[in-house]
Amino acid sequence: MKQVIFCNFQNKKRMEKKIKWRCPANIALIKYWGKRPVQLPCNPSLSMTLSHSFTDLELTLKEKKRKGLELVYLFDNKPNKAFSKRILTYLQDNKQAFPFLEDYALQINTTNSFPYAAGIASSASAFGALALALMSVENINQEHFKQKASYYARLGSGSACRSIYGQFALWGQHPKAQNSNNEYAVPLHSVHKSLKTLQDAILIVDDRPKKVSSSKGHALMEGHDYAQSRFKQANKHCGKLFEVLKLGNFEEFTNIVEQEALALHAMMMTSKKYYLLMKPATLKIIQKIMDYRKQTGLKMCFTMDAGPNVHLLYPKEYLTEVKGFIDRELSGSLKSTIFDEAGKGPICTQNE
Ligand code: DP6
Repeated sequence: MKQVIFCNFQNKKRMEKKIKWRCPANIALIKYWGKRPVQLPCNPSLSMTLSHSFTDLELTLKEKKRKGLELVYLFDNKPNKAFSKRILTYLQDNKQAFPFLEDYALQINTTNSFPYAAGIASSASAFGALALALMSVENINQEHFKQKASYYARLGSGSACRSIYGQFALWGQHPKAQNSNNEYAVPLHSVHKSLKTLQDAILIVDDRPKKVSSSKGHALMEGHDYAQSRFKQANKHCGKLFEVLKLGNFEEFTNIVEQEALALHAMMMTSKKYYLLMKPATLKIIQKIMDYRKQTGLKMCFTMDAGPNVHLLYPKEYLTEVKGFIDRELSGSLKSTIFDEAGKGPICTQNE
């Protein structure tokens, strides 16, 4: 598939316009957990954009006579009430930025390459794709296209702003990254070659929808006894990770990434309305990863999102060995595994 970054059909006079984007999900290495209005992070976060876990989004605009927002939303060709409501609210909130929204009847179709509720944040890839599609309708100066797409993706779902870029992206101000910003993510360019092809085996232990949404989790950071220390820790880890990504030191990488994953879950377990998203199988897997690493010296580490599933990160050269380890040691605790890796970022797949 050809990679087209800048799509624009503004001057085409047609009754119906279609635009399609494929946007990948991402896995956070430094976690965004805690936000303030409007969708601004309490600490910088840094993620790796995936390759095979993505949302395909098709936006169709049909000319109509009467002004006003009109939306048909289909997920996997079927209506989806909950997400439809979220998208409609998003479009309402942003119609001033995209005035054409009221001139057309809108249809949005999305499909995910990964199973629903697999613990991969589908809102990140979906809002990433939607922001890119909306931006493509506008005649935007190419230089700022991605930055603005990231800005609008953030307003849909915070972590979505990082999915606009391939490889590694940083969202939120950090003193060591001059171009960093709370309103949009920026790509990280200084990455050691061993990490540019980093692999992510997504170990699914439970694929049921989680009981507490990320939005509720973020809200529980308000007034959390450990909030200020956590934000400080994320800042410190972020600064260290810049260096580690540059130099490719996997031991240091492991240290930061695993601390971040456990800190995220520690925040959930210690909030006023405490809750647990890890399952017994999650802990079993983490323990096995640590033990196997100790025994063999294999370079691999774990991270987690706000869910029970484990992301196993490792350099590409260990693919066969890691697959063997998963088969032998972990498969009894798993529903499925998705073998993913660092990707190149979103692509525009149709524009007419
Ligand atoms: C644990 O981006 O899903 O995955 O902004 O409310 O949509 P909203 O939250 P969301 O939170 C992601 C939380 C996380 C960590 C991360 O991706 O940085």
